[in-house]
Amino acid sequence: MRIGVPLEIRLGETRVAATPETVKKLIGQGHTVVIQKDAGVTASQPDSAYEAVGATIGSAADAFSAEIVLKVRAPEAAELKQIQSGSVLIGMLDPFDNDNIAAMAAQGVTAFSLEAAPRTTRAQSMDVLSSQANIAGYKAVMVAANEYQRFMPMLMTAAGTVKAARVLILGAGVAGLQAIATAKRLGAVIEASDVRPAAKEQIESLGAKFVDVPYETDEEREIAKGVGGYARPMPEAWMKRQAALVAERAQQADIVITTALIPGRKPPVLLHSDTVANMKPGSIVIDLAAGRGDNGSGNCPLTQEDKIVEKSGVKIIGYSNLASMVAADASALYARNLLDFMKLIVDPEAKLAIPTDDDIVTACLMCRDGQAIRKN
Ligand code: NAI
Repeated sequence: MRIGVPLEIRLGETRVAATPETVKKLIGQGHTVVIQKDAGVTASQPDSAYEAVGATIGSAADAFSAEIVLKVRAPEAAELKQIQSGSVLIGMLDPFDNDNIAAMAAQGVTAFSLEAAPRTTRAQSMDVLSSQANIAGYKAVMVAANEYQRFMPMLMTAAGTVKAARVLILGAGVAGLQAIATAKRLGAVIEASDVRPAAKEQIESLGAKFVDVPYETDEEREIAKGVGGYARPMPEAWMKRQAALVAERAQQADIVITTALIPGRKPPVLLHSDTVANMKPGSIVIDLAAGRGDNGSGNCPLTQEDKIVEKSGVKIIGYSNLASMVAADASALYARNLLDFMKLIVDPEAKLAIPTDDDIVTACLMCRDGQAIRKN
């Protein structure tokens, strides 16, 4: 089949959906690949690296007119118009965006959104949320360390001792756990919290202290277990107790990294404005939920998407695409996710064969033959 890889045009998007490594494998499987000129440049992959493994370099129209189009982000209207009816589109296509699904269906595209893959062992190698959240968790610590005007590790010097930074991590899923591991390597002292009971052991196994908000009712205990590995919105009483404990722990912290998400909903508010007001001057907040809350906020109402704001001496950093700041590795992992997913919908003769009984394929299928399949 003819596979196209366009240059991503969203502001700040630096990743690319295929790397020379994955293109070489696709060509080995019997496909032809056209890469839009300069599609990989921001991810450190020049056109020549793709040509060296057998791809051709073409225009946007060449890439979008392929039978399979590999994207990082959901296509904008002008991009979608260039995809042919009956073609397959694979990417991170915002499975909760009904308007976008309807637009893709109207174009006649068969679209797979990999964020919708189930959290099962078989789906792990194509789990784009995990591969990208892992990178975001790492980069969150790097950005914090860069903005923080003190050392991360404890240091004993001839001029005196410097204390280790105290890091508080709220939400210990894929990003939060990687943030713990990264901050630990830099010598910080770490506390972390999550609503799901399974997170306690994972937090402690990485050498951080678990900030426990005990459940007081069976309802709280039940909701906290989540669904499909994901969190659910907790009852208000639990959220209030969590906010009180976070307010106390944030006063001791130098860096707070928030990563809490609930699929298909606005992110929960975990770090309230008055909590930030009581934090130490010089502290740093990194909000990984930036841009998903009201008016571009995230887990903190003071967050502004893709901006650094300073409130009472605390810097609140709202970068919404941290994975794009590690574009080469983020693209490498993402491209492998796509390659693995393609094995499910392309047969050994390199022909399209979309199964109707595969749980990963059906979960990711957004629209087909002009019909929206996914209903939110
Ligand atoms: P996510 O990105 O949807 O959310 C991040 C974290 O925020 C989650 O741990 C969630 O529990 C937490 N959170 C939500 N509301 C909160 C609140 N009010 N207070 C504190 N924390 C809150 O989740 P992510 O990172 O995608 O992972 C979710 C789970 O799926 C994890 O347990 C992860 O280990 C699991 N997983 C399983 C896989 C598999 O078995 N194949 C693959 C990837 C992840």
